Amino acid sequence: MKRRILSVVGARPNFMKVAPLDRALASYADCIEHVICHTGQHYDYAMSQAFFEDLQLPQPRFYLGVGSGSHAEQTARIMLAFEPVCDQWEPDLVIVVGDVNSTIACTLVAVKHGIPTAHIEAGLRSFDRTMPEEINRIATDAICDWHFCTEQSGVENLMREGVPSEQVFLVGNTMIDSLLAALPHIEQCTIVHELGLEHGRYAVVTLHRPSNVDNPVQLSMLLGVLSELSTRMPVVFPLHPRTRQNIQQFGLQHVVERCPRMLLLEPQRYVRFVALVRGAALVLTDSGGIQEETAVLGVPCITLRTTTERPVTIECGTNVLVPPEHERIVAAIERVLDAPPQRRFIPPLWDGRAAERIATIIAEQILSVGVCRR
Ligand code: UD1
Repeated sequence: MKRRILSVVGARPNFMKVAPLDRALASYADCIEHVICHTGQHYDYAMSQAFFEDLQLPQPRFYLGVGSGSHAEQTARIMLAFEPVCDQWEPDLVIVVGDVNSTIACTLVAVKHGIPTAHIEAGLRSFDRTMPEEINRIATDAICDWHFCTEQSGVENLMREGVPSEQVFLVGNTMIDSLLAALPHIEQCTIVHELGLEHGRYAVVTLHRPSNVDNPVQLSMLLGVLSELSTRMPVVFPLHPRTRQNIQQFGLQHVVERCPRMLLLEPQRYVRFVALVRGAALVLTDSGGIQEETAVLGVPCITLRTTTERPVTIECGTNVLVPPEHERIVAAIERVLDAPPQRRFIPPLWDGRAAERIATIIAEQILSVGVCRR
């Protein structure tokens, strides 16, 4: 009988981490059945379905449709909806990725069902427990069985937390697998031209962290900085739903709408977004994944946070961490535009083959040694 593996996706950054894994596990299709469960944490077409299309991710076998809510509501709804999936489909392994509420919710359910679990992107730590994602990361890693790490810092964090070394694998970054696989489409994408922009002469911005966008004073300050930047170069700003809602709720539309060179866009599909980033002079973001994508594309990135769980992106030269305060951001923009940071190296194993490594390890464990339900 085939071994059954179920991968969980929930929110936008999860889709690009699972797509290459699905392709890599297809090499073992005679002995492994791999299906996807989408919790529905993100549900808008632009935040979800468009990514399945761009990444050629097969449609999910299970769709839980949990939608939005407080952290407790969302996490609880995912757990309630995921439990019957585990009961009925009886996976031999549940794979979770990243740090979103779906990651911890499904790990908890699977572990308590005695189903082995693997975490992709394990061990990353910002050491900032006010971030919901940090709690999700710590809790997931504390209870899952196998830890697949994107960078050495993840391995070291897990060792320090007492995870047995035979459960930890440094494999590279499946998000970068997706980027490299999509590169031919990204290079052909015409979005920069369509928007009337010139390669290397505009900035791309993304903001969605609660610490930056849920507080009216902070969000107003950030929009002010962006409007100043837009007097120097066009600023392309695809708006996350949380950020769009808050700009309206706090009455801040006027700050951005009066800037002729500020392009407020809907969330972009994967290929179009990465094409925008690839052509940018500068990216300002509070995202996790974009710090990694800019590292591989060699694009300067200012991360508007006080901590990063991805320190290798700083060591490799493209990313600078800038506390999100007015003067510091303005100074950082000046520095980066005057002397764009040079990339020193691409992080080890970010070579497009991380998913293959993970699939090989999983297949060895699951097929030769056998996976025992506890
Ligand atoms: C979530 C993740 C975060 C990740 C981010 C990427 C958690 C705790 N957070 O944050 O780690 O970096 O996704 O985008 O899991 N909304 C829509 N349409 C959608 C999805 C969301 O309108 O398709 C709205 C929701 O109603 C909510 C807001 O956007 O008001 C935020 O969504 P939510 O899923 O709560 O968290 P994110 O900020 O997206």
